[in-house]
Amino acid sequence: MSAFDLVVHGGVVVAGEAVVQADIGVAAGRIAALAERIEGGDRRIDASGRIVLPGGIETHCHIAQESGAGVMTADDYDTGSAAALAGGHTCIVPFAAQRRGERLADVMARYRRRASVSRLDHSFHLILSDPNEAVVAELPEVFAAGVTSFKVFMTYEGVKVDDAQFLTVLQAARAHGAITMVHAESDAMIRAAQAALLAEGRTEPKWHAEARPPAAEAEAIARAIRLAAFAGAPLFVVHVSTEEGAALVAAAAAAGAAVWGETCTQYLVLTADDLDRPGMEGAKYVCAPPLRNRATQAALWRHITAGTFVCVTSDHAPYRFDETGKFHAGRDIPFTAIANGLPGIGLRLPILFSEGVAAGRIGLADFARLTAGGPARLFGIERKGAIAPGMDADLAIWDPEAAQVVPPGGWHDAMDYTPYEGMRLTGWPETVIARGRVAFDGGRVVARPGDGRFVARAPFGGPRTPVP
Ligand code: URP
Ligand code: ZN
Ligand code: ZN
Repeated sequence: MSAFDLVVHGGVVVAGEAVVQADIGVAAGRIAALAERIEGGDRRIDASGRIVLPGGIETHCHIAQESGAGVMTADDYDTGSAAALAGGHTCIVPFAAQRRGERLADVMARYRRRASVSRLDHSFHLILSDPNEAVVAELPEVFAAGVTSFKVFMTYEGVKVDDAQFLTVLQAARAHGAITMVHAESDAMIRAAQAALLAEGRTEPKWHAEARPPAAEAEAIARAIRLAAFAGAPLFVVHVSTEEGAALVAAAAAAGAAVWGETCTQYLVLTADDLDRPGMEGAKYVCAPPLRNRATQAALWRHITAGTFVCVTSDHAPYRFDETGKFHAGRDIPFTAIANGLPGIGLRLPILFSEGVAAGRIGLADFARLTAGGPARLFGIERKGAIAPGMDADLAIWDPEAAQVVPPGGWHDAMDYTPYEGMRLTGWPETVIARGRVAFDGGRVVARPGDGRFVARAPFGGPRTPVP
């Protein structure tokens, strides 16, 4: 018997900032050795001509979760984790969403049940929609279980918190060593804009973008940063979609504030013009914040290369193009009643690879940081996100030359469409290894429902020591 259960050999390995030809020895689910040449191994996988990346970690995805309006996502943990795997991931951190009035113990129990069919290792961010005194008193137990991030919404009926509640959450987060994530859009500005548009009879999907202008995002991000500074608490701004929003995050970080942010693949490759399609086709592109324009895409890419964002996520929010999803309120509806969200977990990494690495905008080390190392460090996923001895053997072997046009329909998920249909993407994951076991290979998901484990995360540690 060899010292290694598995050796991945001959590939170009992305190990932190280093991009080197190396072999990887795996034992008992962990990376045991990284060297120029490793002999032996009970199993050997030839990665010649391939790139070996840390398995992707998707920290913004909605799986088996009801929206504020009560619409259940199409993906459960079985299909959602399968799609994530096919897209080069080895870990997901979806949300556990509190219903107003609900005890946190019940929220966590419900999501642990839902996640029991996950094929991938997973954790949760806790969405707090009702942070009253009793709920805050329950938080220590949630932290102790390794759920060390919350999310609040500044808009959306059913889940939004007001500024006083937001402060309560920030203060509790600070006390317990958690980080608060925020969906930052001004509820007042959106409601005023929506009312004006509807009064003018402007009800088609294309008006969705106008109803959620860049100023609504900028106002809310600025306020969130002020509230976090007042509370002395760290803040993570999710799905930054505007140049002004990105500049606010960058400026706060440059001034030494504990503020971080992400953008999402859809804001890099789609625009608000996609909402203006015949009939209700535009509903396929309704998400919040909304899609913007080409100039904003260029600005977000500039912020990616400047290091403003910790990660680029998918905000996978899969609602089918039918009555279970987009049209839960009927077919003949104004844009305000369409379920918000786009699917994208399976294509997040191929899109970022193709548009980022293959297009020459970012390097392989940047790609690994934005898709694995960055989120792992920020969210306390200590044993994942890097290829180094001692880390979980979570690896994705990519063929950088493979090119494919995204076909219609879902992409390994439970969806009936993808907003990325027709995109030609260069660079695809070929084999995914999760804790040392082949989990996806040659187009087939091999990992079974239930193979994934819950990952207890460390408390928020500020700008953590760099991943090795
Ligand atoms: O439109 C979106 N992004 N829906 C999912 C929920 C959220 O706002 O993140
Ligand atoms: Zn959001
Ligand atoms: Zn989201």
